[in-house]
Amino acid sequence: MRPDWKRLEQAARDAAARAHCPYSRYRVGAALLTADGAIVTGCNVENASYGATLCAERVALARAIAEGHRAFAALVVAAGNVAPATPCGICRQVLAEFCPPAMPVRCVPLVDAGAPPVAITLGALLPHAFNLRASPPPKD
Ligand code: THU
Repeated sequence: MRPDWKRLEQAARDAAARAHCPYSRYRVGAALLTADGAIVTGCNVENASYGATLCAERVALARAIAEGHRAFAALVVAAGNVAPATPCGICRQVLAEFCPPAMPVRCVPLVDAGAPPVAITLGALLPHAFNLRASPPPKD
């Protein structure tokens, strides 16, 4: 499934507009492309108990999984003004549970000013992801 980047970027920016971020005022939107061509979006959902905050990327992924998707082809994250933000460490690990290391990830600012996106792969964002199947515990 070849990503339609413009469409994914728009979906991620639209999702960021729906962020619930009264504490940080930092909007994040994520758009996941599934292997069968669907786009599933997420936004950050903050909480008064700060640690309960959900990142946009994990909201998109959990939503996609709950809708029955299991294979993913691309991710766009929209955040920040000039320099785009890349996914946090927890989100990288959670994405690695379902998405291949070769999956392309593009990070764009909230407003399109024509700057090139940060274009990277999940594997480059998180080399040596923790993988319980590759490194099972010893049998006793
Ligand atoms: N946030 C995300 O949604 N994704 C990330 O990868 C990093 C941070 C959110 C969490 C919080 O609502 C706000 O950005 C500031 O940390």
